[in-house]
Amino acid sequence: MRARRLRIRELRSPAEFAEASQAAKAAWGFPDLMVPPPPDMITATHSGGMTAGAFEGEDLLGFVHAVPRTNLGRPAIHSHLLAVRPAAQRRGLSVLLKLYQREWCLARGIGLVTWTFDPFMLRNAWLNLVRLGATVPVFLPNFYGRIGGIYGDLPSDRFEAHWRLESPRVERATLGETSEVKPEEAAALPVVRSGRLPSTNRALLPFPAGFPEVFRDDPAAGIAARSRFGRSAAALFARGWEAVSVVETADGPAYVLERRSA
Ligand SMILES: CC(C)(COP(=O)(O)OP(=O)(O)OC[C@H]1O[C@@H](n2cnc3c(N)ncnc32)[C@H](O)[C@@H]1OP(=O)(O)O)[C@@H](O)C(=O)NCCC(=O)NCCS
Repeated sequence: MRARRLRIRELRSPAEFAEASQAAKAAWGFPDLMVPPPPDMITATHSGGMTAGAFEGEDLLGFVHAVPRTNLGRPAIHSHLLAVRPAAQRRGLSVLLKLYQREWCLARGIGLVTWTFDPFMLRNAWLNLVRLGATVPVFLPNFYGRIGGIYGDLPSDRFEAHWRLESPRVERATLGETSEVKPEEAAALPVVRSGRLPSTNRALLPFPAGFPEVFRDDPAAGIAARSRFGRSAAALFARGWEAVSVVETADGPAYVLERRSA
């Protein structure tokens, strides 16, 4: 049997947006309430946003969806959704979708893409910071309110990724070069403890391994961990620090933070 060709392209019809909505539901395992309605995605795309799918033949395996962003003082979009159907994951589709999004933006004079992700989700952090070369300068406490599902009663704290499309680190990412920090390099960095800011220009901010399962039977511990982490992250970002990578140390996962030069 011939392999069907994989193609990344913009969505073209309401039926394809309905497919995207279903793909999102499959990827997140969302309750129906949380599935993005196709009319919302169509409207945002019509109004200067973008939605692109990874198609194998007629099948939509994954998609990326962004809305126009007008409050950062420069041309930008906010990428609200990235989802790949479970059966098509681990084939590099999310990276292909994001690289298509980058080209789409550059062709329109847009140099910045933002999006949010759960800071305790190691695999998303790895994709965003290490593979794509985004950095994180903003912490958004309980951004969506309590959303239930895999989060139970935890606040929906988010990191905001900034993907500066023409920065050297993102240019490198397009060539497959990652922003990886080796564990032995990380071992030499100071660890941020709550309430204490480091005196160096590089430091580690740890977060719990095994999220969200690790807090399933102890939501109070999850809320406490969220709150400790959030306080440190917010204090660092307010003083010009950015998360630039993520690393798995002997003590668990941690963000690598750097103090931005003025
Ligand atoms: C996150 C998601 C979009 C990744 O899609 P994907 O096409 O499987 O990802 P890729 O094959 O392009 O992999 C890219 C990186 O993602 C990470 N990753 C993806 N799935 C992973 C998994 N199951 N376990 C560990 N890492 C994973 C890997 O780090 C991978 O980099 P690597 O090849 O250097 O290890 C997909 O798992 C998904 O739809 N998840 C639910 C929705 C979601 O969380 N979206 C937000 C993304 S910020």
